[in-house]
Order: sequence, then C-alpha cells, then structure tokens
Amino acid sequence: MPDINKDGAINIEDVKYLLENNANVSAPLKGNGDFRSKECIELLKQADIICTNPPFSLFREYVAQLIQYDKKFLILGDQNAITYKEIFKLIKENRLWLGYDNGGIKWFQVPIDYDIPTESRKKIVNGIKYFSMGRILWFTNLDTTKRHEELVLYKKYNPTDYPKYDNYDAIEVSRYSDIPMDYDGVMGVPITFISKYNPNQFEILAKTNSKEHAGKYLIGNNPTAMIKGKKLYHRILIKNKRLKQ
Ligand SMILES: C[S@@+](CC[C@H](N)C(=O)[O-])C[C@H]1O[C@@H](n2cnc3c(N)ncnc32)[C@H](O)[C@@H]1O
Repeated sequence: MPDINKDGAINIEDVKYLLENNANVSAPLKGNGDFRSKECIELLKQADIICTNPPFSLFREYVAQLIQYDKKFLILGDQNAITYKEIFKLIKENRLWLGYDNGGIKWFQVPIDYDIPTESRKKIVNGIKYFSMGRILWFTNLDTTKRHEELVLYKKYNPTDYPKYDNYDAIEVSRYSDIPMDYDGVMGVPITFISKYNPNQFEILAKTNSKEHAGKYLIGNNPTAMIKGKKLYHRILIKNKRLKQ
C-alpha cells in the first residue's frame, strides 16, 4: 500500500483515507462478521490474499479455514502458535512459515482511552497510544527471500556443550545460532529457530512436548523434553540436510 495521504508514513491513516474516499472499497456486512459465517466465507472465496490480525484465541480455526479455501495469506499470531499441533504440522509440511519483522516487540496503535494496566506494555508517542501484546509474529504461505537464506553456522559439536536429552534420541542446542556445523544427527532447537528456517538447509522432523509430533525420537512415554530430570520448553527436532548421513 502506498503513502496515500502523503504524510510520510504508511499506516492506519492511509487505510482510513482509502476507506473514506473510495466507497467502492468499503461495504458494511449484513451479519455479525464472524469469519465462520456464510457471508464472510463468500467474501473470503473472492479474496486473492488475506492480510489480517485474527483473534488469537481462534487462531487454529482461522488458519484451518484459510487452508481449506486454499488462500494465500499474511496474518499475525502469537509466537506460541508455533507449538500448536495443527500449526506445527503445517510448518513441518512447508505449507506455512514465518514472514519478516519477527524480532523484538510489535506495538499496536490503540485509542487514547484504551486501558493498559501493565506499564511495560504501553507507550505514548506524539499523542498516539500503543499497546504491546508480547511476541507477535507474521505467519504466511507467501514465499520470501528470507526463507531461502542460509543460516551461517560456526560452532563445532562436542558432547559437553550439546548434551543428549533424557527422553529423546537427539542433542540439545539451546540457541539456534549455536547449531553445530558438523553434527549430522537429530538436534533439538528452541521455537525461535522457525524464523530462520530454510527448508533447503534443514529438515523439521518432530517436536517435543507433544505425543502426536514426538515421532520415533521419543524414548519412553513422557513427551516433555528433559535433561538430567530438568524439564525444557518445546523444542523443534531438526536435521542438517547439507551433511551426508
Ligand atoms: C487481534 S484483534 C485484531 C483487530 C484488528 N484487526 C486490528 O488489527 O487492530 C482480533 C479481532 O477479531 C475479532 N474477532 C473475535 N472473534 C471473531 C470471529 N469469530 N470472527 C471475526 N472476528 C472476530 C475481535 O473482536 C478483534 O477485533
């Protein structure tokens, strides 16, 4: 979208200007606007690309609908959505990935009287109020150049820095930037890896903390990844495709 009102910034003011000045692009809905309603599904069918900030509580259902109608999309969602079994399945199958600008905190413009109880989650700049909702990422199925960029690896494997899990046949890599360049086995990485995932460089095999996605790598019955009895947050199990097995 261009800077329609020519104020030097591309933002919600441009959308407002567009809607107010071109009646062809705005039409009130007859129903309640629920994305699952017949009326909204008919509109969805006409769309080429969906770009929106859907209700996070219905994220799985919303994405399932976009996939069902075979739509191209660019939508916002919480980082934790990566761990939802339905969303992880799509990531693993290379049918959904992350877009750009996924580091740091995103600030959303809200009305000035909007109540934000947590100080660190609010800021006012030039009289405009902003609200941060934690780690919010772009999820998409539009191709990006980023997705084809190689993650540069510089560390070498050693068993002290990369211990094996108690209950997975894999080693722990606690930061994706520390992925050893010379390890050809299965590695567990934090979910932040997904923003650097290049499907030509790595293969996503499984995910911990989920019986459904733990696959053959789980040892025993408890899918929560552990090292020396200490529980870890979700890990994505990957393999470096560049190394010969
Ligand atoms: C994360 S907010 C985003 C709001 C707005 N799109 C924006 O970017 O500022 C999600 C919005 O979805 C709306 N919503 C909740 N359930 C919905 C449903 N079943 N169908 C359509 N919209 C829904 C909420 O009222 C809320 O306005």
